[in-house]
Amino acid sequence: MIDRNRVPEHVAIIMDGNGRWAKKRLLPRVAGHNAGMLAMKEIVKVSSTLGVKHLTVYAFSTENWKRTEDEISGIFKLLIKYVDSELDELNENNVKVRILGDYSVIPKAAIDRLEKSLKTTCNNTGLQFNIALNYGSRAEIVRAVNRINRDVKEGILPEDTEVTEELISRYLYTGEENGNIPDPDLIIRTSGEERLSNFLLWQSAYSEFAFTDVLWPDFTPTEYERLIEVYQNRDRRFGGRK
Ligand code: IPE
Ligand code: IPE
Ligand code: MG
Repeated sequence: MIDRNRVPEHVAIIMDGNGRWAKKRLLPRVAGHNAGMLAMKEIVKVSSTLGVKHLTVYAFSTENWKRTEDEISGIFKLLIKYVDSELDELNENNVKVRILGDYSVIPKAAIDRLEKSLKTTCNNTGLQFNIALNYGSRAEIVRAVNRINRDVKEGILPEDTEVTEELISRYLYTGEENGNIPDPDLIIRTSGEERLSNFLLWQSAYSEFAFTDVLWPDFTPTEYERLIEVYQNRDRRFGGRK
């Protein structure tokens, strides 16, 4: 059983295994992404119920453009489908949607839906649901450094600005522009892979990691709660001592 008073404030999930799920069933990869979207729907709901403050999902990486055009367009079509079917309910549940990553380059119809969901939910105060889309952590850090540089040149930051950890944090996607999201307490990756794949490199310095062999479309609220329980049994020291 999980302790309701010690639920992680920020859970980040690398939703992996959609392709293998489909392959096992002799289905096209897009069918796996569709099933994955359904699993995500449920996890957003339970996150709200459990009182998680931030849920960040890795939906599409800067490296995922290496996939076939068919698969990529299928993924963005599903994103549109997700927003169309879920936006009202997300809003009713007081969920605030945010996007991490440069989504300006994704198909126009998907941008429109995303902007609609950002606008509709911007004043909500419940779960903040961060969708990492065309997100890559290295690109995020490079962008932050370039924006600091630009702001110094434009006089937005003083000329003698000293670069600090706090300043870099503020200029990441997880920084000021998205309400200064706290670092993830728990990072989950499904499908048995144990790597970050360019996700939240800076922010995960002291995150707890939980891996499961379950493929993302099979991920259930029960498995989610089990991993939260694993997290609750970890001893987080942050370099200090008891
Ligand atoms: C994760 O599932 C979803 C995205 C990367 C968009 P995959 O598509 O990576 O599934 P596998 O790893 O091939 O099974
Ligand atoms: C990471 O999964 C990206 C997302 C879940 C969106 P990948 O399947 O793309 O990662 P690798 O290629 O196995 O590292
Ligand atoms: Mg994968």
